[in-house]
Amino acid sequence: MKKVAVFASGTGSNAKNIIEHFNGRNSSIAKVELVVCNKENAGVLQHAANAGVESVVITKQQLNDELFMLELMQKHQIDFIVLAGFLLLIPKFLAEKYHRNIINIHPALLPKYGGKGMYGSFVHQAVWENREKETGITIHFVNEKYDEGDIIFQAKAAIENNDTPTIIAKKVQQLEHQYFVSEIEKLLIKK
Ligand code: GAR
Repeated sequence: MKKVAVFASGTGSNAKNIIEHFNGRNSSIAKVELVVCNKENAGVLQHAANAGVESVVITKQQLNDELFMLELMQKHQIDFIVLAGFLLLIPKFLAEKYHRNIINIHPALLPKYGGKGMYGSFVHQAVWENREKETGITIHFVNEKYDEGDIIFQAKAAIENNDTPTIIAKKVQQLEHQYFVSEIEKLLIKK
């Protein structure tokens, strides 16, 4: 069974789904052992607490401290890291240590609308401003550059003429909730 750490900075709807799927069913494939968050009041912390999953709030400085982070991962014997709305850049040492064992979900069809500053509502706003006809989700391996690791999975949603950024965000979130957990499971089964 793989021990998973979920890194999240926000509401945590994806983290909640992942925890419920694996921990809630006593999955033989994976268990979320730790939630790592960089914001003290993030909703994800409540989801972790409700499910009895340990969480830790870290600073940007701690994230970039090799000894600190590798000890944290070691302490919980983490095999696999899932970024679910984690907004800080993953340092090179962590990306290398977890090569092909660290994935991210991005709320657009990469390579479009990726990179620094492209997260959450900023992505949907940009997609809307450019009058894109479609958007979607990308699940990809993480390297030390924002949103540039190899793509594992994409799913698309059509954008109608009168869709607002809010509607676009909802369509994307629906895809995330439909596919993220099963794609994680598929990956972990192969490991
Ligand atoms: C998700 O839409 C995820 O794709 C996005 O943050 C949201 C987190 O939602 N991630 C990025 O924008 C990364 N660049 P959640 O907290 O409800 O899971």
